[in-house]
Amino acid sequence: MLIKKCLKCGATVEVYNDCNCEDCGMVCCGEKMTALVPNLSDGAVEKHLPLVEKDGEIVKVTVAHPMDEKHYIEAIILDAGVHQIKRALKPGDEPKATFPYVKGSTIYSLCNKHGLWSIDVL
Ligand SMILES: [Fe+2]
Repeated sequence: MLIKKCLKCGATVEVYNDCNCEDCGMVCCGEKMTALVPNLSDGAVEKHLPLVEKDGEIVKVTVAHPMDEKHYIEAIILDAGVHQIKRALKPGDEPKATFPYVKGSTIYSLCNKHGLWSIDVL
């Protein structure tokens, strides 16, 4: 999964087929968008890393992050390879999601200020 962000305006996009040209790339606000790499932000790990609880054939995901107007989790995403499920969130929502249990999948949380975080589902 590839997510890019504009570091000027904060626009975020999911990329299905990235530009491979040497001198261009996806541009927003006149600059190349930055690929988000999970778990590299300076944000607090305990507020961003998805907490995953397996319950039979489902996983319950919680992110212990505030959902303020200007700082919130934008999405929680299950990436199971060819299948993805996204729970889109907005300020005031509870940062929770329920997905089918898929062994070996990855669950991401996307903070509008602190980027992408991920944890593998065992
Ligand atoms: Fe954050």
